[in-house]
Amino acid sequence: KIIIIDFGSQYSQLIARRIREMEVYCEIVPLIDIEKIKNGEEKLKGIIFSGGPASVYEKGAPTVNPEVFNLNLPILGICYGMQLITHLNGGKVEKADSREFGKAVLEVENNDNPLFTGVKKSSNIWMSHNDHITELPTGFEIIAKTDSSIAAITNNNGIYALQFHPEVVHSECGTQILENFVFNICKCEKNWKISSFITEKTKSIKETVGDEHVLLALSGGVDSSVAAVLINNAIGHQLTCMFVDTGLLRKDEGKKVLEYYKKHFDLNIVFVDAKDRFLNKLKGVDEPEAKRKIIGNEFIEVFNEEIRKLKGQEGAKFLAQGTIYPDVIESQSIKGPSHTIKSHHNVGGLPEDLQFELLEPLKELFKDEVRKVGHELGLPDTIIKRHPFPGPGLGIRVIGEVTPDKVKILQEADDIFITELIEKGLYDKVDQAFVTLLPVKTVGVMGDQRTYEYVAAIRSVNTIDFMTATWSKLPYEFLEEVSNKIINKVNGINRIVYDISSKPPGTIEWE
Ligand code: XMP
Repeated sequence: KIIIIDFGSQYSQLIARRIREMEVYCEIVPLIDIEKIKNGEEKLKGIIFSGGPASVYEKGAPTVNPEVFNLNLPILGICYGMQLITHLNGGKVEKADSREFGKAVLEVENNDNPLFTGVKKSSNIWMSHNDHITELPTGFEIIAKTDSSIAAITNNNGIYALQFHPEVVHSECGTQILENFVFNICKCEKNWKISSFITEKTKSIKETVGDEHVLLALSGGVDSSVAAVLINNAIGHQLTCMFVDTGLLRKDEGKKVLEYYKKHFDLNIVFVDAKDRFLNKLKGVDEPEAKRKIIGNEFIEVFNEEIRKLKGQEGAKFLAQGTIYPDVIESQSIKGPSHTIKSHHNVGGLPEDLQFELLEPLKELFKDEVRKVGHELGLPDTIIKRHPFPGPGLGIRVIGEVTPDKVKILQEADDIFITELIEKGLYDKVDQAFVTLLPVKTVGVMGDQRTYEYVAAIRSVNTIDFMTATWSKLPYEFLEEVSNKIINKVNGINRIVYDISSKPPGTIEWE
């Protein structure tokens, strides 16, 4: 494998992606253990130093043990990584008069260099730096330039450094350069495949768990579902899954999830019916943040109570979670490499007397890789391609006070909308869709009768990262059909509106 030492670049994940797309396994780490590499415990083919926001000459700037240069392993430094290689090998890095940001033209001096095989003599690249090299490190030579800076250097002995970012799409020959590093220089083989991941993980889960028991909180979402099936394949009924029905789930969600998993995967599921608890706690509360807090706290309480019961029965040693790679990186950069349970997971509030070891079999994977694993394990698209569903569930989609009646009305309306999207082939074309029930009643007419019922809003958005989003341009005919169906079939709603706000300034959810 290749490892990327992360010096805080926003692009580290992108480098990892590019390398995995080459079917080579790669990990991002905050630091390396030279001893483990030396004694062969950690088997590496090459090391990449990422970019980062610091300046190497500043006090406290991130660095590496200079022993890394004596390991006889290929190294590629990118941006800050290049400056660090320079700094640690007797060269000089200084603040540039003007920062170089954006497009630049790379002029390769020598195409015979294995890093530049197949790279055009002159191509567009992406620069983003304040510092530059003013003196080459000992034994290094320049192999590419831009009109204002040194773009690439090497010691002709496996160490390479680039001032630009080959991992971003704006760097025309970037992928070629990374491929050259991975295959020509590190001599990696293409062996990172989803099927081999599953085989290896299954084996390592068996080894780690032995005869012990494992608990997992199953939400019905992609990550926890894939984790559950993977672990279940490895250790069968030594795994107990817990599914909490908060009463704020989508229509028949609890029942469907249970039936499906029991039937197809023989999962051992403990179903916790906590509907009344949640709905009782929410009585009379209409402020969104207050509702969120109540739901979050109640979840932790229910989970802890139930886990105690299970722990008593089975003495589970492990707690499994569907943590995925972006979660891991986030918590690493915030908390350092230590292993703590993150607060944004449902089990963040576990009491201290419940000691578990964590089992996180998906923690090396990106979301689309998790989906591929799920697919390979035989999970249906209805689970794998599901839109995200917020932790507080329908509690924040019934605007204002949540009552059992309103939840029921919303469940019916939402089910109609989602079913129609699926039937018309639109579900996969949008990234998140749902109905929100408003605390507003309006007058309508049905048959000859006057009605006075709630307004519901349909929301559908397209987004890549859920940080920004645009409203989906669903066909008018489709919206008309959904609107008619909901109004005709759902008792309690007599008017539908379509939410055409983007995020920002709106958010995706209404509360
Ligand atoms: P907003 O409404 O902030 O939502 O634009 C962005 C995305 O996050 C989801 N969301 C949540 N997910 N717990 C979650 O697990 C929450 O409390 C929560 N609130 C919002 C929302 O559905 C959307 O996908």
